[in-house]
Amino acid sequence: MWETILAVLWFILPAYIANSAAVDVAGVPGLKKWTTPVDFGKTWRGKRLFGDGKTWRGLVCGVIAAAIAGYVQGEYQGWAVENISHTAIQQSLTLGFLLGLGALSGDMAASFVKRRMNLERGQIAPLLDQLDFILGAFLFASVHVRMDAGFLVAACLVTVPIHLFGNWVAYTLKLKSSPW
Ligand code: CTP
Ligand code: MG
Repeated sequence: MWETILAVLWFILPAYIANSAAVDVAGVPGLKKWTTPVDFGKTWRGKRLFGDGKTWRGLVCGVIAAAIAGYVQGEYQGWAVENISHTAIQQSLTLGFLLGLGALSGDMAASFVKRRMNLERGQIAPLLDQLDFILGAFLFASVHVRMDAGFLVAACLVTVPIHLFGNWVAYTLKLKSSPW
């Protein structure tokens, strides 16, 4: 079981990095003012498309960070297979890019759904908030690598507690306005 959990974490790492980089870059001095929302403030049927919590800064920086992570992981693939899991999926810049873009697209899709449900930016949507980016990451990555359903289930199971903990840390560090 540990083997599978570690293989999943190795695979999904760029998605985690995209997700946290999207939040963390808000603290980078030169990027602080770049708050243009992805939806440019547009509404659909009276409600924001995604809302102010989804910025171009987060999207662009998150995808770049994920691609870099995938590249670096690819360089250490041999190490990972020996020390982390024999079944670790080969990482690469392309896979990192797809995982990052998928993660943040899933995150935006969830915001779209939340706005239709009249939930304000930052309001909680249990499970949707935790799993949106995993589903997006798997969907986008599936055009590039083959994964079985058990792998996706394992990813969802390990992600819920990790995500809750990570967001609590980001909230404590004042990087995020809500602890979820
Ligand atoms: N973020 C961003 N751009 C993105 C994704 C996230 O700038 N594409 C930043 C925003 O500062 C956002 C924070 O990361 O507030 C946390 O992301 P998330 O929890 O997904 O957004 P919420 O503010 O909770 O908004 P929503 O209700 O739409 O999920
Ligand atoms: Mg949120």
